[in-house]
Amino acid sequence: MNSRAQHKASHVTTRRLLDMKQGGEKISVLTAYDYTMARILDRAGVDVILVGDSASNVFSGHSTTLPITIDEMIYHAKAVVRGVKDETNRAMVVIDMPFMSYQLSGEEALRNAGKIMKEHECDAVKLEGGSIIAETVKRITDVGIPVMGHLGLMPQSIYKYGSYKVRAQEGMEAAQLLEDARVLEEAGAFAIVLEKIPSALAAEVTSSLTIPTIGIGAGAECDGQVLVINDILGLNREFHPRFVRRYTDLNTVIENVVRQYVHDVREKEFPTADESY
Ligand code: KIV
Repeated sequence: MNSRAQHKASHVTTRRLLDMKQGGEKISVLTAYDYTMARILDRAGVDVILVGDSASNVFSGHSTTLPITIDEMIYHAKAVVRGVKDETNRAMVVIDMPFMSYQLSGEEALRNAGKIMKEHECDAVKLEGGSIIAETVKRITDVGIPVMGHLGLMPQSIYKYGSYKVRAQEGMEAAQLLEDARVLEEAGAFAIVLEKIPSALAAEVTSSLTIPTIGIGAGAECDGQVLVINDILGLNREFHPRFVRRYTDLNTVIENVVRQYVHDVREKEFPTADESY
């Protein structure tokens, strides 16, 4: 096998994720929105990089995920795919389809999913919703575009819920979520994100499906876990929900570095002769 073929063989695929579930191997997923971060995540061995529409919040500063456009998502996606390709090219790259890019009709959803796939050769798209988008999921997967589902707290529906609290705590909503997961699997989804639901329900969904579940605030029984990169790096000071593990405090680290730089420039300590030509 030549080196190019070997390179390709290690790339994480939907098949590989299925094998991981079957083998009891946990799947690691993180978001990324730019080239540099994508390179670091891929080098560090993350299985899946999600170009989340959380870019609307953490990159652009909007209060919800609704404003981000398909062209903005494609801009982020291109940078991330380039980063992965320039590194080990192992991580699978999944792109969120933004609000109103797939809800109007199956035809428009297919056109937009195709546009996302064609413009930068990512691996898959992610859509929020259950039974109501099952036809759309089937239509997209039927033409060969892998779809990741997203149930539980769906940030694109925040105005319907009115809050970011834990979803599916009551019997009816929990039963609907179980049914939605089953329907998404039947429609061809290769994995489902479960956001902010009780651990026991996430465990029940996970054991009832063949495809992997990826949890965020959904307990330890999911087949994998996803978090927003800015959150685990501690870049955001204000946001610290219980499901986020903050591994470092980059906000303070960066602030201190910038303060030192400002000081060095003001005090004429930068640049030195060694740092000049
Ligand atoms: O947009 C996003 O980052 C997401 C994850 C939090 C699952 O959908």
